[in-house]
Amino acid sequence: MKDGRGVPGIHPGLVESPWIKGNSEALIGYLLTGGFGPVVLMARFDFLTDTEVADVLSYSRVEFGGGVGAISARQVANVRLKIR
Ligand code: HEM
Repeated sequence: MKDGRGVPGIHPGLVESPWIKGNSEALIGYLLTGGFGPVVLMARFDFLTDTEVADVLSYSRVEFGGGVGAISARQVANVRLKIR
């Protein structure tokens, strides 16, 4: 939701999520694939451009991750190549 705290029992919050604060490649991969696993509970966002993914993740890290580093379009492009 707007405050990044999710919907209990349905959508985990992004505030303080280890995914938001953690490794940037893992976070990019999560958004592009919807969560990596064979059973994916989140939509995949691979239809977004590299810049759009970088923007939404940079925003999420500032807003919900206590300001851990921004993510660039170039980083997104690199991860996209790896998971193809
Ligand atoms: C585009 C912006 C989005 C970002 C950056 C994002 C990011 C994330 C992250 C980091 C997680 C893992 C959270 C954790 O386990 O700590 C997650 C999980 C999840 N997200 Fe999103 N999400 C986005 C949009 C959405 C939307 C639009 C939906 C629903 C329509 C959604 C549904 C879910 C669900 C159901 C999970 C749990 C998946 C599972 O437990 O395997 N997300 N999201």
